Amino acid sequence: MINAIMKDAKKLAPKLAEWRRWFHRKPELSFAETETTKEICRILSGLGFDGMKVGVSDVATGVVVDLRGASPGRVIALRADIDALPITEENDIEYRSQNDGVMHACGHDAHIAMLLGAAAILIGQKNEFAGTVRLIFQPSEEAYDGGAKPMIAEGVLDGVDAIAGIHVWQPVESGVFAYTAGAAMASCDRFKITVRGCGGHGAYPHQTTDPIVAACSVVCQLQTIASREIDPLETGVITVGLITSGTANNIIPDIAVMEGTIRSLSPEVRSHIFEGVARVAECVAKAHRCSASLEIFNGYPPTVNDIPFVKRAVAIAKEIVGPSKVIEVTPTMGAEDMGFYLEKIPGCYLFLGIGNEDAGLVHPHHSSKFNVDESVLETGSTYLAYLARSYLEDSASFNFI
Ligand code: NI
Repeated sequence: MINAIMKDAKKLAPKLAEWRRWFHRKPELSFAETETTKEICRILSGLGFDGMKVGVSDVATGVVVDLRGASPGRVIALRADIDALPITEENDIEYRSQNDGVMHACGHDAHIAMLLGAAAILIGQKNEFAGTVRLIFQPSEEAYDGGAKPMIAEGVLDGVDAIAGIHVWQPVESGVFAYTAGAAMASCDRFKITVRGCGGHGAYPHQTTDPIVAACSVVCQLQTIASREIDPLETGVITVGLITSGTANNIIPDIAVMEGTIRSLSPEVRSHIFEGVARVAECVAKAHRCSASLEIFNGYPPTVNDIPFVKRAVAIAKEIVGPSKVIEVTPTMGAEDMGFYLEKIPGCYLFLGIGNEDAGLVHPHHSSKFNVDESVLETGSTYLAYLARSYLEDSASFNFI
């Protein structure tokens, strides 16, 4: 089976680059991927797909389509995100972004192309397998609340047994797969603390309750949640990235507002931090005769790879690129809304390296000079197609280590 898939992917390689470049030229922001969605549908129709479901919530972006094999069986979903970023591209390339101020600077153009490639391979083999492959082209990964959550609410995972996806990854050498067993990416939540005091003249602090001193103390004490309350072998980050208060050097203001981000790799640590931030903010503010109110804006849960599933996926990746080109990496504190799917069903999210110093591909994700080594597109499509076929043929092998 693998030989046939690799052969098909090789034949598709020029097409994959062509597709990727089309999407690169026409990047669209989160939940505004209208032309992207149309083009995905156009290509899928050309490949012989029908019954595409377009849109999520009230927005007509994103595509879901099922590919049914010769007979009923298990259902596996393959997911690609499709949105771009508000960045002005600085690459001097023929297929440079034509949408001013918008750029595919995270590689989602490559994700679309790789999934279309897998679609092309799998539809050509549909008489050879039982079960269904659900292709998910998800809008809005970059902007909270993201596209995964509403898609799941609308039933995209109904009847689906497992899910897989790939993110191209600049820090890893081109063509190398990188994986993490268990939590691979962090949860990401935003918070806002408003400390209220009672302002007055800067020369007479005793006549006031100073929210700035209280807020500074809250920032310092928040750090003890990660350092003193969380098991040192677990991971939690609390960053206050924004403090707003005051109008002049000699006025003690009434309020101070702080905003920050919370990251963790497990639901337990995540909820402990939520509780800790609320407790510390309230009690420390109170110690300074102020009050504090906390708002937490839930972002993405941690992206947790199912361990037996990822081990099987790793074996598949090794068959494609060889054992030396599949490496285990530590989790990243970056976040991804792939986590929403993996909260519900088993599966895994692998990184596929695109870093290539010789080709000048050294710029990080979200940089205005970010670019993708297109030679990996064929590898990505091969992996997605082979993983789907392997799962449908023997899903039990994904259940044990
Ligand atoms: Ni991304």
